[in-house]
Amino acid sequence: MIDRLITDREGVYVDATVGSGGHAEEILRRCGDAARVFGIDRDPEAIERTRQRIKDPRLTLIQGRFSQMSDLLKGFSTEEVDGVLMDLGVSLEQLKSEERGFSFHSDAPLDMRMDMEGDLTAEVIVNRWTERQIEDILRRYGEEKRARLIAREIVRQRSRAPIKRCSELASVVERVYGRRGRVHPATRTFQALRIAVNNEIEELQSGLQEALKLLKKGGRLCVISYHSLEDRVVKRFLLEMEKERKMRRLTKKPITPSEQERRLNPSSRSAKLRVGERL
Ligand SMILES: C[S@@+](CC[C@H](N)C(=O)[O-])C[C@H]1O[C@@H](n2cnc3c(N)ncnc32)[C@H](O)[C@@H]1O
Repeated sequence: MIDRLITDREGVYVDATVGSGGHAEEILRRCGDAARVFGIDRDPEAIERTRQRIKDPRLTLIQGRFSQMSDLLKGFSTEEVDGVLMDLGVSLEQLKSEERGFSFHSDAPLDMRMDMEGDLTAEVIVNRWTERQIEDILRRYGEEKRARLIAREIVRQRSRAPIKRCSELASVVERVYGRRGRVHPATRTFQALRIAVNNEIEELQSGLQEALKLLKKGGRLCVISYHSLEDRVVKRFLLEMEKERKMRRLTKKPITPSEQERRLNPSSRSAKLRVGERL
């Protein structure tokens, strides 16, 4: 994947979702001494972790949202870049954290904020939003077929006692489904809440525009998404940019992991990569 991003070994690259720095490290490994990599993440814990882990003078870490990418880079006198990478969604560290509240396996408070800014948490949505609003986000962001039933059950449960923990919400959804298949029935509910709390779809739309603004002619945009909602936004963006002759799609169909990659890294199972080149 990194091969598709790098067009100049001494170029400037943005890893707009640096996380723990796995991809950034790979970019650095393949680039020369004069290259620069900017690693952005909205999660301050991710930035700190990567700062401790990767000591490379070519890497600059910045805490912030990718919807502000060009402003974030202005401070470093960088107006044009050779490539932008976006690896969307949450990281394994965020999912596994006992405090952040992203996982239905945890007993953490229902938080789900990636950057701990703002007052909107999953707990606020679950306990204060109307049944209709909850149903709407479950359907829109989770593509949840039982959105109405789950919203109703949430409202019934919270009238007895507020739903404070991830495990409590997971049990509410399990009650609606009654049985468990291969995928945990709360997966879509948790995805929907996370997207709403972090305003992820609008973030993605602005992030793509920001990448376009920064890329120099011939520069590449690589986006990895993990669910159809995000992939649709990326696909439409690239199609639209191709029509406007601002970009060329280098992947007409998304690239998905091979059988072997899936086996080695099960969390890559649903990954889809799309690549565009700035014209
Ligand atoms: C799938 S992980 C990336 C993992 C990374 N590629 C690595 O190698 O470790 C996604 C990361 O994107 C960050 N993120 C999500 N939305 C963001 C946004 N709008 N702006 C900046 N970072 C964001 C998350 O905090 C998370 O750390």
